[in-house]
Amino acid sequence: MAVREVLRMGHPVLRQVARPVERFGTPELERLLQDMRDTMAHENGAGLAAPQIGESVRVVIFGVSATPRYPDAEPVPFTVLVNPQITFLDDEREDGWEGCLSVPGLRGVVPRFRRLRYRGFDERGAPIDRLAEGFHARVVQHECDHLDGILYPMRMPDMSRFGFTEVLFPDLDPAIDD
Ligand code: NI
Repeated sequence: MAVREVLRMGHPVLRQVARPVERFGTPELERLLQDMRDTMAHENGAGLAAPQIGESVRVVIFGVSATPRYPDAEPVPFTVLVNPQITFLDDEREDGWEGCLSVPGLRGVVPRFRRLRYRGFDERGAPIDRLAEGFHARVVQHECDHLDGILYPMRMPDMSRFGFTEVLFPDLDPAIDD
């Protein structure tokens, strides 16, 4: 078990297109996922992509129980998603606040597709095929963007809605940060 350093915006690995996983159930993949779980829990994150700990492979994890960081968010099942593919179900988008462990201390409003289907595999290669909407769909889009070298500020059309979490949301617990 290991909490790994989370790379911050500006690190070149975060801008790379990550490579697909070719073999499942390997010790390497299990170790990567354990480190990702440990790091996400330590940082109190809603999700984490492998490139954020310096591994440029198409692996994301996410999951949210009720959290004070996103008080309006519905819970999202804890998921390991390897080689994900997203299909948007319609054109509807909605704005929502996002943060990122690689952009610490900041939040911004990002438009995301509201409904999608995502497919991929768990760590043993079993297929995953789900429909998601709202916050769940937002988390999936945010994490999968990391696999293509995209950080949420690159998706923001309105930089006036970008700022420091503790200034924007002074009532949030200051011990909890992105
Ligand atoms: Ni992120």
